[in-house]
Amino acid sequence: MSYCNKANSEVDIENGELLYDDGTHKFIWLGWGRLETGMIQTNQYLIVDNNKGTLLDPGGIHIFPKVVSNVTKFIDLEDIEYIFFSHQDPDVSSGIPMWLSVTNANVYVPELWVRFLPHFGISDLSRIKGIPDRGTTMGTCEIIPAHFMHSPGEHIAYDSKSKILFNSDIGAAVFPENNSYLFVDENNFQEHMGLMEGFHKRYLASSNACKYYVNKVRGLDLKMIAPQHGSIFRGGGINMFLDWLNNLQCGSDIISEISG
Ligand SMILES: [Fe+2]
Ligand SMILES: [Fe+2]
Repeated sequence: MSYCNKANSEVDIENGELLYDDGTHKFIWLGWGRLETGMIQTNQYLIVDNNKGTLLDPGGIHIFPKVVSNVTKFIDLEDIEYIFFSHQDPDVSSGIPMWLSVTNANVYVPELWVRFLPHFGISDLSRIKGIPDRGTTMGTCEIIPAHFMHSPGEHIAYDSKSKILFNSDIGAAVFPENNSYLFVDENNFQEHMGLMEGFHKRYLASSNACKYYVNKVRGLDLKMIAPQHGSIFRGGGINMFLDWLNNLQCGSDIISEISG
């Protein structure tokens, strides 16, 4: 069994990296494409367990061709069994109709958002599995509620085999142009905080929701925390991130500051 311990300078930005591989189970980061100005960068992940696939927030319409191309380096599309969408935002879910058309997978979406899917042009909901507020299981993943972090109906996915937590927008960072890196640990957490702060203060609902999340996640055996934007936490970066979030004032805590 092995976890990716490459330095940031060694990461294959274009093709992605195996974050975990034990021979029969892999957790894969699918790489970054070239970004257009004004578009937030996203992370897509693929789990391959005994040659069957699970996609985690495979992204919107814009990056669909790039994600398909990287996924098929590891697995045939017909072997994808599960696709997880953590919440309703366009960067997460606007690709749902396309993923439904190119795979036979069951698509897991928070129950709260299922009634909005027909607005994407989806009329057949037979492969859409609404995730109840309390969470569920999906393949090797435990789907854990993280409501109001930031969406009112939000879930994260803990892969029990690799012990990697897919964290949706929680832990997102927004990079300055030409300065992105894949991993955060105890050595670069302090600088990284500055890239997370703006997003978390404005998009997360409240410190109450943050503390609830941190308390829940601390109970897991965590090897990496992998967000949908920004960098992946490993080593000492994991607890530094959870401590930071536990003390964050955000959303309704600072509503007068936000509203000016
Ligand atoms: Fe979001
Ligand atoms: Fe997002």
